[in-house]
Amino acid sequence: MTERELTAADLDALLALQRATYAGLARREFLVQTEPEELAYIFGGGGAGLGVFDGERLVGAWVLYYPFGRSDNLGLLLNRDPMTAAHFELALLDPAYRGRGLHREMVRRLTETAARDGRFTCILATAHPDNAASVRGFTACGYENLGVYKLYGGLDRCVLCKPL
Ligand SMILES: CC(C)(COP(=O)(O)OP(=O)(O)OC[C@H]1O[C@@H](n2cnc3c(N)ncnc32)[C@H](O)[C@@H]1OP(=O)(O)O)[C@@H](O)C(=O)NCCC(=O)NCCS
Repeated sequence: MTERELTAADLDALLALQRATYAGLARREFLVQTEPEELAYIFGGGGAGLGVFDGERLVGAWVLYYPFGRSDNLGLLLNRDPMTAAHFELALLDPAYRGRGLHREMVRRLTETAARDGRFTCILATAHPDNAASVRGFTACGYENLGVYKLYGGLDRCVLCKPL
């Protein structure tokens, strides 16, 4: 397996992985799919992504989002300076590759990416409270669980925060 930064050229593969991951979930409320337009913003400079490939095939993707003044900035909800809050937007892994620590490793690496960037004072992530693999990947990387909020049109989400 190999890892590399994702670019706009990976958008179709990322959307296909997102569709397949969502379709395979036992509990679909765990994943709110990111819209193609938002991913285009991210790969146009409004974020960063890392992909894991098996040969040519994208099998895992982790994506940061830099919302700045956009209305979906979670910093607004938490009374933090939204202009310096980065978001952990997406974590997707083909089921055949789960349980090997890839999520924890990619959360660690993208958190370092946001810290190196220099523009952000915190990174915020969300996960369904029952999505243990997702929540534990973040807490293992030093994110604090700030509690459960109603987000994305009324879904329960833990909000996790790591100061940078
Ligand atoms: C979330 C996801 C990316 C995790 O990927 P992963 O590489 O299998 O996770 P890891 O192997 O790094 O495990 C992370 C932690 O969760 C634990 N874990 C993994 N699977 C678990 C499970 N099913 N139940 C409980 N804990 C679990 C691991 O032991 C590890 O904890 P540790 O650091 O204390 O050892 C993957 O399950 C996935 O793609 N899920 C579907 C999409 C999704 O839910 N995305 C997140 C939306 S917020």
